[in-house]
Amino acid sequence: ASPLRLGIAGLGTVGTGTVKIIQKHAELLGLRAGRPITITAVSARDRMKNRDVDLSSYAWEDDARALALREDVDIFVELIGGEEGIAREAVLAALKSGKDVVTANKALLAIHGQELAGLAETNGRVLRFEAAVAGGIPVIKAMTESMAGNEIRRVMGVMNGTCNYILTRMESAGLPYETVFEEARQLGYLEADPTLDVGGIDASHKLAILAAIAFGTRPSFDAVEIEGIERVSIDDIRRAADMGYRIKLLGVAQMTGRGLEQRMSPCLVPADSPLGQLQGGTNMVVIEGDSVGQIVLRGAGAGEGPTASAVISDVVEIARGVRIPSFGQPAARLSVPQPARTAVP
Ligand code: NDP
Ligand code: HSE
Repeated sequence: ASPLRLGIAGLGTVGTGTVKIIQKHAELLGLRAGRPITITAVSARDRMKNRDVDLSSYAWEDDARALALREDVDIFVELIGGEEGIAREAVLAALKSGKDVVTANKALLAIHGQELAGLAETNGRVLRFEAAVAGGIPVIKAMTESMAGNEIRRVMGVMNGTCNYILTRMESAGLPYETVFEEARQLGYLEADPTLDVGGIDASHKLAILAAIAFGTRPSFDAVEIEGIERVSIDDIRRAADMGYRIKLLGVAQMTGRGLEQRMSPCLVPADSPLGQLQGGTNMVVIEGDSVGQIVLRGAGAGEGPTASAVISDVVEIARGVRIPSFGQPAARLSVPQPARTAVP
């Protein structure tokens, strides 16, 4: 079979992780995908940067949009980040020129998800984003594929590795915020702009994507009620611990009689509960379906290996010919939700 040719834009934590898996598991991936998976070309800002990975056999493009348009690329893999600018332009260019797209960019999807998914579907292409929510945890596939027979009632969880790392390390190691923050950076957890992490924005992007899949609504990040962890002090964490609780940045999305409720905020959870026990960059997502009941998914929510693992899962599905709609149903059918906070009770 002919190789499936990737163009990878963005060679930071997730991009280099993706290249490493493709190099390390080339034979295995070929067997699983039914055809060889190769990289044709890559792109990032600084060509001279040492990335701890051998890129010598790939073509280099300075501009991600040029990479997206290359004729020798079948799947454009966007791992740059950002809701506007080059990432969005390159994804649009790729979809318009008949490429499938895999991305980890939750900001882009939470805001432009319906437009991009619609463009993919109109052009007969696929847009997949397993890595965008909860890193290595296969939550998108669980909801769009395994839970296809369910009406989803609620989705909730801890969806930002940085915040969970900071909150748990401050408590368990008694370390100051600054030290723990630097550790999270070393682990590759942070967004390019870390205020997105601690401000609850990143987790809210993820919640908006999951809510769209769960309730058949268009991703509505602007309707999430958000409070980050910036105002959580070490004293708060200690007081919670004294009472047998831990503080977690918890997201909840559910359809209520008043409309779609989407909330992201620091919450007290019992220290001995599964959520209370979550350590470090681990995420946990709880999904409630009317037929299956509650499903709990737990695993690494950020970092090079876990996130690249999710990117590769999308690539392999595309290679296998899996062509499900991005949000589990046609993008044109996603409805405009009534946000619960503004609805008349
Ligand atoms: P990094 O900041 O580590 O890497 C970003 C990459 O994009 C870099 O290689 C950078 O180039 C490149 N880049 C930036 N601006 C441009 C530009 N204008 N043109 C071309 N390339 C550019 O980010 P991550 O790898 O951490 O994240 C990538 C995406 O994955 C983001 O959308 C993020 O939200 C998402 N994600 C990240 C996770 C994680 O754990 N890190 C987990 C889940 C999703 P250069 O290296 O030359 O500076
Ligand atoms: N910055 C994100 C986090 C990366 O800490 O969870 C994973 O999406």
